[in-house]
Amino acid sequence: MKSDALIIKSARQILTLRSDQKGPRTGEYMEDLGIIEDGAVAVSDGKIVAVGKTHEVLDQVKIDAKTKVIDAKDKVVLPGFVDCHTHPVFAATREAEFEMRVKGRPYQEIAAAGGGIKSSVTTLRATSKEELIQLALTRLDRMMSYGTTTIEAKSGYGLSLEDEIKMLEVIKELNRLHPIDLIPTFLGAHELPEEYKERREEYIQLIVEKMIPEVARRKLAVFCDIFCEKGVFNIEESRKILSAAKNHGLKLKLHADQLTALGGAKLAAEMGAVSADHLEFIDDEGIEMMKQAGVIGVLLPGACFGLGVTEYPPARKMIDQGLPVALATDFNPGSSFTESMPIILSMACLMMKMSPAEAVVASTINSAYAADKAEEAGSIKKGKKADLVVWNVRDYREIPYHYGVNLVDQVIKDGKVVKASFPPLGGG
Ligand code: NIG
Ligand code: FE
Repeated sequence: MKSDALIIKSARQILTLRSDQKGPRTGEYMEDLGIIEDGAVAVSDGKIVAVGKTHEVLDQVKIDAKTKVIDAKDKVVLPGFVDCHTHPVFAATREAEFEMRVKGRPYQEIAAAGGGIKSSVTTLRATSKEELIQLALTRLDRMMSYGTTTIEAKSGYGLSLEDEIKMLEVIKELNRLHPIDLIPTFLGAHELPEEYKERREEYIQLIVEKMIPEVARRKLAVFCDIFCEKGVFNIEESRKILSAAKNHGLKLKLHADQLTALGGAKLAAEMGAVSADHLEFIDDEGIEMMKQAGVIGVLLPGACFGLGVTEYPPARKMIDQGLPVALATDFNPGSSFTESMPIILSMACLMMKMSPAEAVVASTINSAYAADKAEEAGSIKKGKKADLVVWNVRDYREIPYHYGVNLVDQVIKDGKVVKASFPPLGGG
C-alpha cells in the first residue's frame, strides 16, 4: 500500500451507510445502515480504498511495515458525523442569558431587550480575526473529540459588510488550520442590526446589493441562510434576499418555522432550498411541499433542549411521510451550546422518537447531503474521504443510549488519526 496507509480491522460492526441509490434517505430506507460484522476498512492517501469483512479486506490489501493497523475488536466504526448547522464563530459566551431563561424569561424577550444575537454582534465586532480564530479552534477540537469530521459553519454575528466578511474569512482560515472540513454559509440576515432599527429596507438593500455580490464574487460562501421568523425577517423579505443569493449562485438554507408557524418551510420549497432547518412549527402542507421540492428537513433538538421548550419538530411525521431528515447541533452561544453530536442523537431518539438507526442516517449521509458534501463524506465507501470514527461500544445503539459521556475511541480524518487514546470506558 502507498504511504499513509491505515487499516482498521476486526470491528464488531462497521456502519457503512452504503447504498447504490443517490440522494438523501427517506422513509424505511432511513433504517438501512449497511452494517458489516467483523469488518475492516483500508485507507490510502486519505481515501477509503476497501471496505468489507476483515478477511476479504486483508486478502485485497497488502500490509507493509509502514501500514498503521488499528484493531477494532469489540468496537464499532462509523463515518465521521457531518454537523450540517453550526454557528461556531463568536466572541463571547452568554451564560447570563442561560440563567435568565432558566428563571423564566423567554428567549425572544431577552433578544428584544438587547441580548440574544445582538449581544453576540456587539462582542464579535470588537474582536480581532486572530482572536476569533483561536476561540473557534478550541470549539472545533471539542467537536472532533465527539466524532464530528465535517461541519457547515455560518456567519451572522457581524451584520455589516466588513464584519460578515471578517467572519467568513475566519471560517476560511479555520478550514485551512483545522482537520475538520468547514462548509461556509453567509447569514447576513440573522437579525436586523441595531443601527438599522428604523431603516429595515436599507439593511435588506445592503444585503442584496452589497453583501451577497461581494460574498459570491470572493467565493466566501457555498450557502446563503436567513432567520425567517416573526420579528426577524418575514416571508417577503426572506424571498427577496434568497432570490438575490440564488441569482449569485449561492445555494439556499433557511432557519424556518422555529418559534412560530410563519411558513418558512413552504418558502424553502418554493425557492428550491437545499434544506429548511428547525421546523418545530411546520404543518402538514409544509412537510408535503418540502418533500415534493426535495428540500431536506434539518432538525436541531439541541435548540429546543437549550431553550427549555417542549415543542420538538415532528420528526416521526416527517419520516413517515417520506421527507428526508438530517440532524445537527445548531452549536451557538445562545440557543444550543453543545459541540456534541452524540447528545443530539440521544435527543433525537428520546424526544423525537427517531430510532437509533434513523438518528445515525440523519447525522451522517443525510447531513452530508444537507451540507452539499455527500460526494466525499457521510458514508464508508471506496473513493470517499477516510473520515472514520472508532467507538468504544459493542453495538452502535449504545451511542444514543449511553448519553452525556464521550464514547469515542479514535477519530480518523482524511486518513490520519487526529484524536486517539481516550481512556477505555468499556460498555455496560
Ligand atoms: O439557530 N435561530 C437563530 N439563530 C440561532 C440562535 C443564535 C443566537 O441566539 O445567537 C439558532 O437557534
Ligand atoms: Fe441556527
